[in-house]
Amino acid sequence: MTKPDLLLLGPYPDWDLEALAARFTLHRLAHPRERGSLPPALLPALRAIATRGETGADAALMDMLPNLEIIACYAVGTDAVDLAHARARGIRVTNTPDVLTEDVADLGIALLLATARRIVAGDAFVRSGAWAEGPFPLNTRFFGKRLGIVGLGRIGRAVARRAEGFGMRIAYCSRTAKPDVAWGWQPDPASLARESDFLIACAAGGEGTRGMINARVFEALGPQGIFVNIARGTVVDEAALLAALRTRGIAGAGLDVFLNEPRIDPAFATLDNVVLHPHNASGTVETRKAMGRLMRENLEAHFDGRPLLTPVV
Ligand code: 8YV
Repeated sequence: MTKPDLLLLGPYPDWDLEALAARFTLHRLAHPRERGSLPPALLPALRAIATRGETGADAALMDMLPNLEIIACYAVGTDAVDLAHARARGIRVTNTPDVLTEDVADLGIALLLATARRIVAGDAFVRSGAWAEGPFPLNTRFFGKRLGIVGLGRIGRAVARRAEGFGMRIAYCSRTAKPDVAWGWQPDPASLARESDFLIACAAGGEGTRGMINARVFEALGPQGIFVNIARGTVVDEAALLAALRTRGIAGAGLDVFLNEPRIDPAFATLDNVVLHPHNASGTVETRKAMGRLMRENLEAHFDGRPLLTPVV
């Protein structure tokens, strides 16, 4: 049986490549912006795309592939995929929810702790020998603080469960109050920030949340406040975040996601009140193996004529 031709966008671990090669004929492309390098003769053969969360698939790439049937995302976030165009073209789209929830929530708490307790600065302090000159400066208590969660989906709820273990007072903002949780609800990020010591962004990316965490939110969070982003760079007005950090309008931030990854604004590297992390919240061996498996199972189900496991479109 002929193996369907699959276009792989972005890098994948060897274990995924080996497993995919058993069922598909693989073709590689680093990013949709390099679509011009695809051999013209290959375009009609490509029936499937595998892509990463930050890479996605745009309409221009889809329209180069007349026989494209499915886009499988190695990610829960599909905001970089033009879903409306896929729907209009009858192209299926899948993602990898649930298998990465706990790792991403773990990293959200880790970034909150690292920022509040200044763990990265403490490491540098010891390595530099400055400790011999005197004690490390006091920092911010973590347990028992007020945590605001922007977006109470799977990941936001997993963060809240962890925060309960730290005795935190939890509130969230989302389009509507969730009837199945006892945590406080606020209608918008600024109202939530006003009632929070720590604010963590867990909302889905996309046009509906673009720039939702802006100067007004950082002002409401205040000079003792700490912000963490494990959502998407697009949910933050990044110029406002940099200004709030630079002017100490907020105390600090822990960031896993940014605009223009991986070539982020160099201003972040000049700040001493920010912990920087390379969009790797789901980046454990266990979780990436589970994501790769789920992505493959969706692709195999499609070509076997079986129902998709985690369809988005
Ligand atoms: C990606 C992510 O999977 O799941 C998402 O939406 O952002 C990440 O877990 C990772 O960047 C690999 O694509």
